[in-house]
Amino acid sequence: MGITEQREFKELMLKYEFAKERLETELNILLEEYKFKNGYNPVEHTKSRIKSLDSITKKIEKKGFDLTVDSIQRYVHDVVGVRIICSFLSDVYDIINIIKSSRQFIIKREIDYIKNPKESGYTSYHINLLVPVHLEGKTEYIEAEVQIRTIAMDCWASLDHKLRYKLVNPTVELENELYDCADKMIEIDNQMQYLCEMVRNLRK
Ligand code: GTP
Ligand code: MG
Repeated sequence: MGITEQREFKELMLKYEFAKERLETELNILLEEYKFKNGYNPVEHTKSRIKSLDSITKKIEKKGFDLTVDSIQRYVHDVVGVRIICSFLSDVYDIINIIKSSRQFIIKREIDYIKNPKESGYTSYHINLLVPVHLEGKTEYIEAEVQIRTIAMDCWASLDHKLRYKLVNPTVELENELYDCADKMIEIDNQMQYLCEMVRNLRK
């Protein structure tokens, strides 16, 4: 029997759906509260998705495990993925703080790829959360990955993905050029942050 016909698999995917809904709702509430308090919207847009079975399968295979309900839960940390794209660098850290202050989730892991960019040049802040999901009278904690980044970081990540995706052996030149672009994005974020503060002071 293929995994998609298994009741356990269907149940797991349902739990991921519920976790995504719950997470989106809570994030919306937190954001509305922030906007109400500060009279300012730090978010450009958000994107959420459930990872396709195809991508889940590829990730599990790449890690060298068999595709089972257990291996999905254990090794795929981003079946539920939410991306929050912020305007300015300081907004990224504001959003991180409001997520961390929420009592609705358990923080499983945080990685600051802004302070410590990946070798590729990738920058973003990752928070892996456990979202409580109720099913058949039981509460289970389901993992979700939230990526928080600026428009510039998102621009780089999208183009990087587009260029590198399906390319088995990227050349050193491509890697270096992409890294260089990432550096420029950081410069833009810093400059925009400076302007953001300048405008705030002008409006006082
Ligand atoms: P995996 O998800 O199995 O890779 O585990 P991991 O712990 O290495 O996760 P990581 O912290 O690398 O974050 C994974 C996610 O971050 C990916 O699904 C992408 O969305 C994003 N990401 C990480 N590195 C890059 C990169 O070099 N380029 C782009 N475009 N996205 C990246
Ligand atoms: Mg990775």
